[in-house]
Amino acid sequence: MAKRKRVGENFEKDDNNGLLPQKKHYRQRAHANPFSDHSLIYPCHPEQVDWTSHFPIAGTDKRPAFADIGCGFGGLLISLAPLFPDTLMLGLEIRVQVSQYVLDRISALRVAAATTQAASGNAHYRNVSVVRANAMKFLPNYFAKHSLSAMFFLFPDPHFKSRKHKARIISPTLLAEYAYVLRPGGIIYTITDVKDLHEWMKSHLEAFPLFEPIDEETLRVQGNGPILDAVYSSTEEGKKVERNEGDKWLACFKRIEIQKK
Ligand SMILES: C[S@@+](CC[C@H](N)C(=O)[O-])C[C@H]1O[C@@H](n2cnc3c(N)ncnc32)[C@H](O)[C@@H]1O
Repeated sequence: MAKRKRVGENFEKDDNNGLLPQKKHYRQRAHANPFSDHSLIYPCHPEQVDWTSHFPIAGTDKRPAFADIGCGFGGLLISLAPLFPDTLMLGLEIRVQVSQYVLDRISALRVAAATTQAASGNAHYRNVSVVRANAMKFLPNYFAKHSLSAMFFLFPDPHFKSRKHKARIISPTLLAEYAYVLRPGGIIYTITDVKDLHEWMKSHLEAFPLFEPIDEETLRVQGNGPILDAVYSSTEEGKKVERNEGDKWLACFKRIEIQKK
């Protein structure tokens, strides 16, 4: 691979002369405490968010339909962006430097798409964005009831010790919020390389009355193959697991519809 040339504080030129942020300039501790306040400012409700500032393609009535919870360095968003060019996707990431990296990465890709011939068409990246937010605390501040069609929990922090299990991103209380923001028929995608966490997420989702399991084959038959491929392989954690030849455990669930009597 050609040597990359450093040009700005955080950016280097890639092989096509485009500018990309470099992860090494966004170093941060591996974990942020989801119970601390983090001095973050949140919208009071989703209608208070100026979505057009996040998504230049958004009309005043367009809202995010995909949410990547704990998006890390943004691999899933970047990978899905050209596949669903009209779908708005928001990543939520608690770590300040990591969310800044995703923001810079998206900005750089938008500039590259606007200036190079090759990256035109569907790869405009104006349909993806990120907020620095604690998804365990303020999800309904960003997403209205039944507004999402997909939620992603990819390689979430495992919080191995039992006294830390309350910090896991799947729990009965949080599932009630996920069921609130997900529309009936919407899908929750979970994947991890930690078997114990996989069993934990699966058992909590199975026990929750508003979700039912949906297997990988059914999802592929229904046309969700490209999403599943990205779930397995597009994220930085997923790639790390592949390099280490680890296992990946997938579990997907559908938000069911309650029939009113
Ligand atoms: C192990 S990483 C996985 C990142 C990404 N999904 C991937 O597959 O590469 C988990 C990410 O979730 C973020 N995170 C943990 N708790 C969070 C919370 N309550 N709200 C938002 N992000 C959170 C962490 O900062 C971290 O970047």
